[in-house]
Amino acid sequence: MEQDKVPHVVILPLPLSGHVKPMLSLAELLCDAGFLIITFVNSDYNHDRLERVMDIQAFYNRSPGFRFVSISDGLPLDQPRLGPIILQLFFNTRTVSKPLFREILISLRQSTERSPPTCIIADGLMCFAIDVAEELGVPIITFPTHGSHGMWTIMHTSNLIEEGEVPFQEESDMDKPITSIPGMESLLRRRDLPGNCRLEVENPLIKFIISEASAMKRASTLILNTFEELEAPIIARLGSFFDKVYAIGPLHALLKTRIKDSSQPVSSFGSLRKEDSSCMEWLNSQPLKSVIYVSFGSVVELSRDQLIEFWHCLVNSRKPFLWVVRPDLIEGNEELGQISEEIEQGTKERGYMVSWAPQEEVLAHPSVGGFLTHSGWNSTLESIFEGVPMICWPQAADQQVNGRCVSELWRVGFDMKDTCDRFIIEKMVRNLMEDKSEEIMRSTNEIARMARGSVKENGSSHCNLERLIEDLRLMSL
Ligand code: UDX
Repeated sequence: MEQDKVPHVVILPLPLSGHVKPMLSLAELLCDAGFLIITFVNSDYNHDRLERVMDIQAFYNRSPGFRFVSISDGLPLDQPRLGPIILQLFFNTRTVSKPLFREILISLRQSTERSPPTCIIADGLMCFAIDVAEELGVPIITFPTHGSHGMWTIMHTSNLIEEGEVPFQEESDMDKPITSIPGMESLLRRRDLPGNCRLEVENPLIKFIISEASAMKRASTLILNTFEELEAPIIARLGSFFDKVYAIGPLHALLKTRIKDSSQPVSSFGSLRKEDSSCMEWLNSQPLKSVIYVSFGSVVELSRDQLIEFWHCLVNSRKPFLWVVRPDLIEGNEELGQISEEIEQGTKERGYMVSWAPQEEVLAHPSVGGFLTHSGWNSTLESIFEGVPMICWPQAADQQVNGRCVSELWRVGFDMKDTCDRFIIEKMVRNLMEDKSEEIMRSTNEIARMARGSVKENGSSHCNLERLIEDLRLMSL
């Protein structure tokens, strides 16, 4: 292959770890194809954190076609990317990251060391990349890292407003069915809409989401981190806006089945925090399927009262539990030291706490029988793949939709949306861990079987990835 014809894919995630991780899995899968060059555009903040948890040079030695570059996200490097600051981060992508990304593309084009970019893959919430791609004449693929149901709902935010289904504030409105999202009529209630639908329609976040969802459709190709067997009808509807759609998830699992050497995938560092693996030993000492694993992902914050409710429920349920309590889990970093000391004392009998767990390994451990989760899409897919039923406590973004799908569509768990009461949570934990509803266990096992099939050779996601790689090759000709 001539030097100027080597396919070179530039990958641009939204600079939040729940988005960086699946993008890194995709980048590694493409690099593993052997003939693609990858440039992964991190934010300075995330890259700094990645360098602290992984040996990047060792990774380059294994994957010579892969390079990271990093750009500013416009926020100070010592500012945690949590809470209201995330809105600022969204806006900065357009004002700060856009010109920097453009400069990177131009310099990659002029580089004599690597072939020029032949395609951009950008997060569905980084649509400024479409402007840049159009200006510079580089093909672009959009990859919203949410699930298809979450994405389809987000794409209908303006319909929901036009039809008067959003905004809503009254508690009495919460259980009204949603009618203005085709294909979701019998599934969603207002309380199941993404968290931002509870804001005033003039809120800048709503405006941002509407404009990103609309801009995304200017890309001709769509990548989804899902598998056809899970979300086929909605994937087909999303597909009506794009020339090509590739459902290639669960990406973390596809990567593990395809990676050719035994080295740790770089995307396993994509959650950008140091894992405490001591919990694996603790899990080894617990009975089969007895442990409830509790984690709320990388950005959800709890109030002090909510944390206490969860703790009471876990202790009172008398089930062994493994709980991820991030140092920044409590809103405004409030007194975590003292709370965590109190909780740690009371946890010793049958619980184990870590500040960050090797979640994929935890969910695959035979002692884990349930997952109390905030329903982030990565966590949902990881749990589905390992056949672990869930209790959902969705908080923001696509999580409300994911929780509804888990409980009502896929029937792989319960959704405790909009409650945080120790007695309700305890009852759900007991229901999930003791009673083991036959229906939930049957569908959890069945969907896990389909997920595993999708990433095997000749499975749907495996074949879709092959098609994507071939298309990326053709784009460079
Ligand atoms: C965010 C959004 O909240 C979510 O709604 C959206 O779908 C993706 O981006 P986040 O909140 O971090 O992500 O949740 P999630 O999508 O579940 O991702 C968390 C990731 O961190 C998972 O891949 C999980 O394996 C990993 N994790 C979490 C760990 O490795 N260790 C932990 O202790 C907790």
